[in-house]
Amino acid sequence: MKPFKKWFGTPTKDEESIFSLDTDNIPNHVAVIMDGNGRWAQKRGLPRVAGHHSGMKNVKKITLAADQIGVQALTLYAFSTENWKRPKDEVEYLMKLPLEFFPKEIDELIANNIRIRITGWPEALPDYTRKSVEDAIRQTEHNTGLILNFALNYGSRKEMISGVQRIAQEAAAGRLRPEDINEELFSQYMLTAPLPDPDLLIRTSGELRISNFMLWQLAYSELYFTELCWPEFNEQHFYMAIQEYQRRARRYGGL
Ligand code: IPE
Ligand code: IPE
Ligand code: MG
Repeated sequence: MKPFKKWFGTPTKDEESIFSLDTDNIPNHVAVIMDGNGRWAQKRGLPRVAGHHSGMKNVKKITLAADQIGVQALTLYAFSTENWKRPKDEVEYLMKLPLEFFPKEIDELIANNIRIRITGWPEALPDYTRKSVEDAIRQTEHNTGLILNFALNYGSRKEMISGVQRIAQEAAAGRLRPEDINEELFSQYMLTAPLPDPDLLIRTSGELRISNFMLWQLAYSELYFTELCWPEFNEQHFYMAIQEYQRRARRYGGL
């Protein structure tokens, strides 16, 4: 087995699961619906926002775990276009998390050559949130390692409609013929472009649904659901999901 990059020292018992992974079959792009923050907090008699805070702290852990095994892109669903429906206080709390997350973690992300990007509509975020994320994107734009992609103010149906509108505008202006519209072109109009489709989707908290996340891109992704809530989903759980992914036979409709 090839050694994993940047692995130093003797593994603890908890870390052993990493060594049973097949290094030749690591998913390139992993997407995560980080769900269950509120329920995690409520189970502990804490306010929902305490769950969001704890969930935020988990982001770095899972990012480094993904980087460790050579995942190239990690997309984290952080806020959906539907999450604006939540109480104002909760939305405000979520919008302030980047202001704590980036100053605290950016040095370590940079030290690990991680590049931040966003999939969604940053223009609709409060100015302070947008600025904080844009600063992080700028600070890491020359990094060449793992892409840490936050789906922030993201919704898949809106993404597809806006893509179709832009394609239609190109066609109406005579720059594109309708017969030239194919899967590859459509993918280029998705906000995730040029990232490849996710190989693996993980959803925490036991909910068995997609919640308007990457409906186009997930066509042939392997789906992995766990009862664990996001704040308690640790490196070992992440590697267990990768292990399960490696047991799957991806057939894409073939044999
Ligand atoms: C996921 O946790 C985080 C966001 C949607 C922002 P939730 O806040 O949805 O937690 P539950 O699902 O209510 O437990
Ligand atoms: C999906 O979780 C969105 C994020 C994790 C950001 P939700 O908690 O919003 O999804 P539903 O409401 O359970 O479908
Ligand atoms: Mg939820």
